[in-house]
Amino acid sequence: MNQTTGIILAAGKGTRMNSSKAKVLHALAGKTMVKHVLDAVSGAGVTRQIVVIGHQGEDVKKALGEQYIYALQEEQLGTGHAVMQTKKYWDNNAGTLLVLCGDTPLITSETVEKLIKEHRDNNAVCSVLTAQVPRPKGYGRIIRDKYGHVVEIIEDKDATEEQRKIDEINTGCYCFNQEYLKDALAQLNPANSQGEYYLTDVISYYQQQDLPVMGVTLKDYRELQGINNRLQLADAEQLLRDRINNALMLSGVTMVSPQNTFIDNNVKIGPDTIVLPNTYLRGDTTIGSSCEIGPGTTIVDSGVGDDVVINNSVIKESSIGNRCLIGPFSYLRPGTKLANDVKIGDFVEIKKSEVGTGSKIPHLTYIGDTQIGEKVNVGAGTITCNYDGKNKWKTILQDGCFIGSNTNLVAPVIVGENAVIGAGSTITKDVPAENLAVARGNQKNISGWAAKNNEETKNDKKKEE
Ligand code: UD1
Ligand code: CA
Repeated sequence: MNQTTGIILAAGKGTRMNSSKAKVLHALAGKTMVKHVLDAVSGAGVTRQIVVIGHQGEDVKKALGEQYIYALQEEQLGTGHAVMQTKKYWDNNAGTLLVLCGDTPLITSETVEKLIKEHRDNNAVCSVLTAQVPRPKGYGRIIRDKYGHVVEIIEDKDATEEQRKIDEINTGCYCFNQEYLKDALAQLNPANSQGEYYLTDVISYYQQQDLPVMGVTLKDYRELQGINNRLQLADAEQLLRDRINNALMLSGVTMVSPQNTFIDNNVKIGPDTIVLPNTYLRGDTTIGSSCEIGPGTTIVDSGVGDDVVINNSVIKESSIGNRCLIGPFSYLRPGTKLANDVKIGDFVEIKKSEVGTGSKIPHLTYIGDTQIGEKVNVGAGTITCNYDGKNKWKTILQDGCFIGSNTNLVAPVIVGENAVIGAGSTITKDVPAENLAVARGNQKNISGWAAKNNEETKNDKKKEE
């Protein structure tokens, strides 16, 4: 089988986005537009891809990385001109060139595969992916002859009133037989309403040469929606999120309100997990089975085990074992690692710390740079004082120790196994295993003080009168 090279057009300015960011770098469901397209193409088995960059090209290159070939289009003189810039990267074999726009992020690998297959099976010189749409305005229209062959693509701005009524449009995805494309590109000229080199004009050239052009029609036109402004971006994002949520629900995940559940493309969730509304699962996140996540929870780049409950909490770059209970209102910051059966309650912040099996931090606590062993109980209001203004220091709480409420642990400090800390202590020295540490002022009780105080107040008032 001959090789296919993907060409993704991404040099345009995207004026209608009104953005300081390159259009193709706007994200949907956690992934940039152009990356969605590139992934759909690689998912169809096309490994060699050329990205045409121009406007803010360096940003695009930086965002996508080294795995692609970049062709620079210095001036954006049209889609035909963009493809011309890739010629030096074509291989010498008579391969297939797959051309797509970087602003159609909803395209799927299945569609790309179908286009390539039909192109090959029919030995076509060129195959155009088309779709019937309810509002064709703005798109190039497909002109077919009486045999159904595609004979021309006419841009909206160049079309007659009659042609504008045609509802079959050019999606901007094509397969070309490489051998025949070079000549066709060479004869393009910018004699049209936009003064551009239109890639679409190669179709009429093939027609004149009696070379067969195939029209491959896509059933779900929404897959090829081009994004030119932020309304279309929001619309496409909604479709993409529906697609992600539907696949997850069919695989066994319950969503109480899918419309209010926001899950990125690569997130994995096990069966029988329930996701409650206003939950955002982002980036490289994996959730196990039989969990209850949400409501009001954000999890970014984290791993969560099975049977975990997380309520109204924010979790970033953390890992959580099985059967943990988290929230409401907890904040787990990067580097948090919870073993199995850990309870993190309300208003608890944890940063760069490990918590061992069966330990509990139930309320109002800050834990930073800390190693917590198994079955440790951290009382309400405990604070690790990990920062001295210059450096961060470690706290170690060994297995079975009990930290009384309102304790300050001034790091570096170690609390030994099964040690107990009296409530309200400020601990500045290590506590040996099995010891009780109390570090606070001793309590003094003064008998009869209240009655005496009342008497004095009465006398003072009389004097004032
Ligand atoms: C293009 C097609 C139109 C089709 C529509 C589908 C042409 C002439 N028209 O129109 O038939 O219905 O896509 O969405 O091809 N680009 C470059 N360099 C340029 C110009 C554009 O790289 O000089 C890139 C853009 O970044 C974009 C893509 O090509 O990703 C399409 O360009 P755009 O200007 O959006 O074309 P449309 O007017 O939408
Ligand atoms: Ca477009």
